[in-house]
Amino acid sequence: MLFEGLELVSALATLAACLVSVTLLLAVSQQLWQLRWAATRDKSCKLPIPKGSMGFPLIGETGHWLLQVFSKIFSHEALESYLPKIQLVIQDTLRAWSSQPEAINVYQEAQRLTFRMAVRVLLGFSIPEEDLGNLFEVYQQFVENVFSLPVDLPFSGYRRGIQARQILQKGLEKAIREKLQCTQGKDYSDALDILIESSKEHGKEMTMQELKDGTLELIFAAYATTASASTSLIMQLLKHPAVLEKLREELRAQGLLHGGGCPCEGTLRLDMLSGLRYLDCVIKEVMRLFTPVSGGYRTVLQTFELDGFQIPKGWSVMYSIRDTHDTAPVFKDVNVFDPDRFSQARSEDKDGRFHYLPFGGGVRTCLGKHLAKLFLKVLAVELASTSRFELATRTFPRITLVPVLHPVDGLSVKFFGLDSNQNEILPETEAMLSATV
Ligand code: HEM
Repeated sequence: MLFEGLELVSALATLAACLVSVTLLLAVSQQLWQLRWAATRDKSCKLPIPKGSMGFPLIGETGHWLLQVFSKIFSHEALESYLPKIQLVIQDTLRAWSSQPEAINVYQEAQRLTFRMAVRVLLGFSIPEEDLGNLFEVYQQFVENVFSLPVDLPFSGYRRGIQARQILQKGLEKAIREKLQCTQGKDYSDALDILIESSKEHGKEMTMQELKDGTLELIFAAYATTASASTSLIMQLLKHPAVLEKLREELRAQGLLHGGGCPCEGTLRLDMLSGLRYLDCVIKEVMRLFTPVSGGYRTVLQTFELDGFQIPKGWSVMYSIRDTHDTAPVFKDVNVFDPDRFSQARSEDKDGRFHYLPFGGGVRTCLGKHLAKLFLKVLAVELASTSRFELATRTFPRITLVPVLHPVDGLSVKFFGLDSNQNEILPETEAMLSATV
């Protein structure tokens, strides 16, 4: 126990040191960039240059502009068009999991699944299966080294991260070029199409570098968070069979309890999902108790008072999502997994705007929250209707919180496919049914 405690403290200390270094580096470079622009002021003119930020070195405010275009990507219409593709990717993945004779490392495979969803559905890349697998390995190497000290030495995490990013950017450039050349055979606009179209509408054709940065940003935001929540969802359904059964009852009542080969494949619609009230409660409760992101950082723009203390303008502050959920007085028995707390009768989250914020809050709230919830709902529907799953270890794994919440050593689960009569499908049949999306 002592060693595990020390390990956690040392991991947190390393993470904190990395974050402080990165923040300092960004702050200093931003100030220098600001000075560089201030120096270009025409001294013969008495007027001041406009107020506001010049963004970061070289990229300026491009990231911010990209974020504004991002919000279109998650509109109701866009989500409706992604839905059948997301469902197919999930169905295909669950079939593959069931066709494996061994147990699945759920966290690892959930990462692969969310990466696939981001690349295939959100970005619309038709990369061959083998290349996608290789890109995923490189992507993992990139993510593992994102929080490294910026020391460029051979074998350092920083060097490995930079190398991984270069390979990724090369792979993404190839995929983007192929996509730009081949526009036929598509029945929906993916996020990348919207990004390119919106930039043209704003009279600003995106450069290849901006496209690569934009796509990498999207994958980065979607990947670890959604994989964490998907794993927590599966773990809670395993721990609480009564919840799974209640979910199945709701699906049965709505005519959505189907098996592997039924005609419901790829035909879910947003209105069907929003009619599933209990499913919504389950997803909300998973996100409350197992919030993937601990919190966010802000710069204080105006001095304000908190509990009788002043928080001065210019300070960097962190808001904690996890502590907020743990201490919010509105939640009864905070440590108990109880989806019904979000039912219409109880609605524990209805009082106050900032007691429940798994996706952050304010102007920087998560842009992909509807997409993430949609993904989790489809995963839950497919799990409940087409799979039986059981824990392959004697006990549930411990949870770690860094860099996002996830089970230590993953979560080992054996999956079995169910047919439309809820009977188990043999793994060999599953393997035959498995199609590549
Ligand atoms: C369960 C899954 C997810 C969780 C828990 C989550 C959580 C969050 C949180 C807490 C923030 C705000 C951080 C802050 O306050 O600084 C955030 C920001 C963001 N998220 Fe998510 N997220 C998830 C999935 C996604 C997905 C699928 C996408 C898109 C593909 C996405 C895109 C973004 C973007 C672009 C931002 C930055 C918004 C801005 O700064 O204006 N997220 N997310």
